[in-house]
Amino acid sequence: MNSRLDDFFAGKRVLITGGLGFIGSTLARRLVDCGASVVLVDSLVPEYGGNPLNIQGLEDRLRVNISDVRDEHSFRCLLQGQDYLFNLAGQTSHMDSMRDPFTDLEINCRSQLSILEACRHHNPAVKIVFASTRQLYGKPDYLPVDEKHLLRPVDVNGVNKMAGESFHILYNNVYGVAACALRLGNTYGPRMRIKDARQTFLGIWIRLLLENKPFEIWEGGQLRDFTFVDDAVEAFLAAAAAPESAGRVFNVGGHGPISLKELGDLLLAVAGGGAYVERSFPEERKRIDIGDYYADDARIRSVLGWEARTGLREGLARTIAYYREHLPHYV
Ligand SMILES: NC(=O)c1ccc[n+]([C@@H]2O[C@H](COP(=O)([O-])OP(=O)(O)OC[C@H]3O[C@@H](n4cnc5c(N)ncnc54)[C@H](O)[C@@H]3O)[C@@H](O)[C@H]2O)c1
Repeated sequence: MNSRLDDFFAGKRVLITGGLGFIGSTLARRLVDCGASVVLVDSLVPEYGGNPLNIQGLEDRLRVNISDVRDEHSFRCLLQGQDYLFNLAGQTSHMDSMRDPFTDLEINCRSQLSILEACRHHNPAVKIVFASTRQLYGKPDYLPVDEKHLLRPVDVNGVNKMAGESFHILYNNVYGVAACALRLGNTYGPRMRIKDARQTFLGIWIRLLLENKPFEIWEGGQLRDFTFVDDAVEAFLAAAAAPESAGRVFNVGGHGPISLKELGDLLLAVAGGGAYVERSFPEERKRIDIGDYYADDARIRSVLGWEARTGLREGLARTIAYYREHLPHYV
């Protein structure tokens, strides 16, 4: 953790959309510990990763507003007087975006525009960090993928997130509402959704492992990199605090590539047992698969001084320990 950022956020007023979700709630914990005044907005749609238990113990130290960012009037009120907006509310499932493209459009695209309109008209001094995604790149032409890579999403979610990100950069450039975006990769850790694979396949792997059932690895040779959630949170803080982030997008990476089979083996080793089966992708999933991906995150390292600190073994151990304690609240 960066103590300079602790001092920076002390006393700052912060709004987090998607604040009861996996990354949003971890960010909220960190900001409350910095001494920031924190408001969370979350709609708690059951299919998404929001969970009141994610802020257990913090209830008296922040404010929670259960509302939908699609409600322009309530959002306008929540935005008043905020210094920072961490904009994380989103529909995250790639498959759900294909089955129900209009809900994804409403949340990941249209509501982003209404959030930015609220900022432009009612709080133009706010600084925004938007949670974008590596899904914008689609199937990589080269590895590691840097921010100059062509954007060619392979699913509805990627297209809508691309629009959401573009709106943020446009409002920065045209209206001077300071905004930047973090293109997150596979982020994992305590408080992620493990009920199913909607947020990440690693979630359902961990659930099945702890229920003593084999999990499935699809295409075990596929490469990914993984970011532990505490590291992702530091990237959000660094991006918010640095004036030079405005108008820019940043890849957030991990500790380099690992195959899914190696990841499965590491998970079993860390858990001290368990089993998996290997299979090929189901047809509907294969159509939107991006193949191998890992990030070149030289830009965020050089501009914001951020780097991933938590190794995969340590991150997985902390994640499994969390779910061993809290499993019934997440399934
Ligand atoms: N977890 C990852 O690996 C990852 C990777 C790339 C990008 N992201 C992005 O990061 C952000 C946070 O993801 P997460 O992993 O914490 O997911 P999450 O599902 O745990 O958090 C998203 C939160 O947003 C809330 N939400 C959704 N629609 C809303 C609406 N209309 N109004 C108010 N709240 C709403 C949900 O209830 C949920 O609590 C998302 O925007 C996601 O696209 C995450």
